[in-house]
Amino acid sequence: MSEAVDVAALADLPPGEPVLVRVGETPVCLVNVDGDVLAVHDICTHALESLSGGWVEGDTIECPRHGAQFSLRTGEVLTPPATVALPTYGVEVRDGRVLLDPTPSREHPLTR
Ligand code: FES
Repeated sequence: MSEAVDVAALADLPPGEPVLVRVGETPVCLVNVDGDVLAVHDICTHALESLSGGWVEGDTIECPRHGAQFSLRTGEVLTPPATVALPTYGVEVRDGRVLLDPTPSREHPLTR
């Protein structure tokens, strides 16, 4: 695990609301799912839309542009038109702070 980065206060993550943070140059979408903070790359693998402008249902996020759905837990595509999974990030909540491991689970196909 790379050195964790403090990216947000848990109190600033309303349940079910996507929140955009930046880790260096990388945009990351955080979602508080019933107290679990999940993190995926913010950029849709279909056509570069920002997923933090999308909609969350349970542990799924829907891209606001063409409606692809991704698992916030695994990054896998659940609904086309996207076909490539998102990078995910490890998160730990400690003392009310959200600490993110900046090493992605996989490469993003359209960004670096
Ligand atoms: S840009 Fe996200 S589904 Fe097309």
